[in-house]
Amino acid sequence: MASSIQPRFLDFSISRQIAEAFGTPLYVYDQQTLEANAAAVLAFPHAFGLTARYAMKAAPNAAILKLFGGLGFHIDASSGHEAHRAMAAGIEAHKISLSAQELPADLGELLAAGMEMNACSLAQLERFGQLKPGGQVGIRINPGAGSGGNNRTNVGGPSSSFGIWHEWIPQIKEILERYQLTGVRIHTHIGSGSDPEVWLKVAKMNFDLVRQFPDVHTLNLGGGYKVGRMPDEKTTDLQVVGQPVKAKFEEFAAETGRKIHLEVEPGTFLVANAGALLSSVQDVVSTGSEGYDFIKLDSGMTELLRPSIYGAQHPIHLLQESAAAEERDYVVVGHCCESGDILTPAPGDPELLAPRQLPLAKIGDYCVIDGAGAYASAMTPKHYNSYPEAAEVMLQTDGTPRLIRRRQKLEDIWANEV
Ligand SMILES: Cc1ncc(COP(=O)(O)O)c(C=O)c1O
Repeated sequence: MASSIQPRFLDFSISRQIAEAFGTPLYVYDQQTLEANAAAVLAFPHAFGLTARYAMKAAPNAAILKLFGGLGFHIDASSGHEAHRAMAAGIEAHKISLSAQELPADLGELLAAGMEMNACSLAQLERFGQLKPGGQVGIRINPGAGSGGNNRTNVGGPSSSFGIWHEWIPQIKEILERYQLTGVRIHTHIGSGSDPEVWLKVAKMNFDLVRQFPDVHTLNLGGGYKVGRMPDEKTTDLQVVGQPVKAKFEEFAAETGRKIHLEVEPGTFLVANAGALLSSVQDVVSTGSEGYDFIKLDSGMTELLRPSIYGAQHPIHLLQESAAAEERDYVVVGHCCESGDILTPAPGDPELLAPRQLPLAKIGDYCVIDGAGAYASAMTPKHYNSYPEAAEVMLQTDGTPRLIRRRQKLEDIWANEV
C-alpha cells in the first residue's frame, strides 16, 4: 500500500498559510507522507535481502535526497549530473547506481569514486570495460515487454531504446569476457505507471536472464509502481505485487542454490502524492455559449508538464473562504502562451479539453494541484515565457513549513548569457 495518511497540504487552511507565507506558484511536499511511503517501500517483500533505491529523477531536491538517504535508501541516477547532485546532497558514491541513456564524460572518475553502473547498451558495456577492465557491472536488459501509464512512459519492448535488447545475450557475454568483467546485476525497468500484472510477469521472466549469467547476485526490478492520483485511480499495493516475486526468488534458490538479492527503485511511488503545486487564479474568461469557461493560473506547463504531454490527470482544488453555492465546468489552463498549456486535458489525450466541475472561481483564489510530487518540479520546460523557477517548501514532521528551494530571481534566467 502507499501510505494511507492524507498529505497535510490537503488541509486547505495549511495550504493557504503556506501560499500566503511563500507566494505562488510553489511546490509543497509533506514529510510525513514521504516517510510513510518510504516505510512501504522498505517493507517490500524479499527473500534474500533488499536494496531500495530512490529514482531521484522524480524529485531531486537535496532535502528529499537527504530524507530518503537518512532512511536507508540508495539512489538510482539517470545521468552523471544526477550522480553528482546526489553526492552534493551527501549520498556516498557507492550507494549510487547509474542507468543512463547518455554516459557522462567523467564516467571513469565516478566509477573510481565507487559509483555502480548498469550498462544500458552494448556500447556502454564496452566503455565500462575500457574504463574498468576486470570490474563488476550491472546490465540493463529490455526484456521485450513493457508497460506504462501511456506510450511515452512505457520503456520496454521493441519500440523502446532503453536497455540491451534481450536477444543480444551472446554479444553481452562476448564483451564481458573480452574485458574480464563480471556481470553481477540484471536490471529491468519496463515503464512508469505499469500495469501490475505486466510488471509481475516481467519480474518473473527476469529469472531466465539471471539463469544465463552465473555471476549475477542481484536482480533490480526497477520502479514503475502505479500511483492513483485521481480518486478513481488505484495505487499498487507493494505487498500484493511483491509476495509472488518473493516466492519466485525462493523457488529459484531451491532450484539453483543461488540466493539472489532484490533491488527496487521507485520514484513515483515515493513522492507523487506527497507533493502538490500551489497556484493562484489569475483570470477567468469565457468563449461564449458555444465555448468554454476558462480558469487561468499563475502556473502551468512551466511547473507541471504531465497534463500537456501525457493527458495526465491531477486533482484540482480551489480554495475559497466558504463553500461556493455554485459550480461550473472549467477548462483550467496555465500561464504560457501555448495552447497546449492545459491542466485539464482529456485522460490520456492532451489534444482534447475535459472541463472539470469546480466552484465558481474568482481572481485571486488559491488553487491546490495535487499529485504533483513526482516528475513535476523535476520535469518542466522551465523558463518558457521567462517564468522563473517556482519555490519548493517541505512541510516538516512538526508541521512547520521550511523553504527548500528559493523562488528563482528573474535575472538568474539570463545570468549565463554572454
Ligand atoms: C531505470 C529507472 N528506474 C526507476 C524509474 C522510476 O520509475 P517510477 O517513477 O515510475 O517509479 C525510472 C523512471 O523513468 C527509470 O527509468
